[in-house]
Amino acid sequence: ARLVVLVSGSGTNLQALLDAVAAAPDGSYGAEIVAVGADRDGIAGLGRAERAGLPTFVCRLGDHPDRAAWDRALTEATARFAPDLVVSAGFMKIVGKEFLARFGGRFINTHPALLPSFPGAHAVRDALAYGVGVTGCTVHFVDDGVDTGPVIAQGVVEVRDEDHEDGGAALHERIKEVERRLLVDVVGRLARNGYRIEGRKVQIP
Ligand code: GRF
Repeated sequence: ARLVVLVSGSGTNLQALLDAVAAAPDGSYGAEIVAVGADRDGIAGLGRAERAGLPTFVCRLGDHPDRAAWDRALTEATARFAPDLVVSAGFMKIVGKEFLARFGGRFINTHPALLPSFPGAHAVRDALAYGVGVTGCTVHFVDDGVDTGPVIAQGVVEVRDEDHEDGGAALHERIKEVERRLLVDVVGRLARNGYRIEGRKVQIP
């Protein structure tokens, strides 16, 4: 399966996918990364892609007259690489109608909380503020809501008392360790086995 990965930040989830592909030179991981896209320049995620010799593209909201035009440009830039799956790995933008029309049902996201709890951009902080004892991460298909699409897999992380002291930085790091393994596992299984989405249930044979 051909993957396009979208990033906005440090790209450690992208790196985990790159490492999984590189660890199986016989192609047995089942997926290859064909390009990496971002919504901003100069981020570490793009550097990781470049070091791996992958093509990259940047689609900045501010370079377009409105969100619909940005969404169209992102759709076209992504479609150029003919992906079977698109992975939002810390991509901090909500895509629009055109992107979903083109990639719906094969666009997955990783989120640092146990959905449907704590959707949105501040999931770790929100979970801490709520006072939960466990949180984690969710890999899910993207639909037209914010972090609302069908869940593929989740991982659990315990909150420690000291997590309240640093505002969630250490908790987010522990979540990301689980998240990277989960994402690598899910992407590989979707790519190797295929899948069906039946309502909210994702079936991977
Ligand atoms: C991940 O926790 C992702 O779920 C969140 O931002 C983080 C991205 O980390 N939205 P990285 O850029 O993959 O290191």
